[in-house]
Amino acid sequence: MTETLEPTATGIARAAELLRGGQLVAFPTETVYGLGGDARSDLAVASIFAAKGRPRFNPLIVHVVDLAAAEDVCVFSDQARALALAFWPGPLTLVLPVREGSSLSPLVTAGLGTVAVRVPAHPLAQALLAAFGGPLAAPSANLSGRVSPTRAEHVIDGLAGRIAAVLDGGPCTVGVESTILALDPEPTLLRPGGLPAEALEAACGRPLALGGDGQKPSAPGQLASHYAPLAGVRLNAAEAEAGEVLVGFGPVRGTLNLSSTGDLVEAAAGLFQALREADRLAGPGGRIAFAPIPETGLGRAINDRLRRAAAPRD
Ligand code: TXA
Ligand code: MG
Repeated sequence: MTETLEPTATGIARAAELLRGGQLVAFPTETVYGLGGDARSDLAVASIFAAKGRPRFNPLIVHVVDLAAAEDVCVFSDQARALALAFWPGPLTLVLPVREGSSLSPLVTAGLGTVAVRVPAHPLAQALLAAFGGPLAAPSANLSGRVSPTRAEHVIDGLAGRIAAVLDGGPCTVGVESTILALDPEPTLLRPGGLPAEALEAACGRPLALGGDGQKPSAPGQLASHYAPLAGVRLNAAEAEAGEVLVGFGPVRGTLNLSSTGDLVEAAAGLFQALREADRLAGPGGRIAFAPIPETGLGRAINDRLRRAAAPRD
């Protein structure tokens, strides 16, 4: 049985207790719900892969309570520290060298010399990390290859019976996963996400190099069919074709609409919920069409997720 825990001191204490016992607890972050396990425990991290049904041991993001806790697990350059100070807590993940002698399970980094680390802004994630008192490995709390969860009910839909508990914090406000930046040493965008790339470019004072997506093997788990609904997906649709469920944006009306005013923040926040709802409306073997989304700000992360949803399936 998977427990649903209320967002109270009691719920947080129970979640921390389960995690200390090596169990898995899904918890809300500002981006999506994470499937948390003790990042220092081989067994807990291996259980994360098992619960998600992940075929490969991709490296996971390590969540810590603050910059000081991050410095315990990885090594910051001056530039990395400046970015952390500017954007943490928040939807930015930094890929940095693992600190020698760090307590992290090697399974978290998939044996790489670097680790992806972030400080989530969600108050419940903060409270849980403080109560747990250590780093939490947490990929999105969905079955491998499926749509990321932005509500506790989504977590239950996919993982009930496979994890100990979910801490219910209601809907996530950002709605797409964190932006992943490597500094090796030039700033390289490995995954567009909840922190617009423009903000990072302004902070770095230069355009970002592009990595991930098969261009670079350093960010595995990034490619192709991911965030897949059951229905087929068509992008940049001006209108619905016969039998399609159209998800609109701005002036393109649809059965559903990501944001009738064309607000990308609103669109990102509701993206995965809309994908699930459209999937339900389309039914088995159905088709979903998405209106065009501008490739700026959070639109970049939205389009990245939509391209994966539309990619050919394995
Ligand atoms: O918003 C988020 O980031 C969510 C919430 C729960 O915090 N978490 C999340 O974690 O998306 P996860 O573990 O699914 O993200 C892992 C991504 C993978 O695509 C992986 O390739 C990349 O981070 N990654 C992890 N470690 C890496 C490393 N050492 N080098 C390059 N990429 C890495
Ligand atoms: Mg994921």
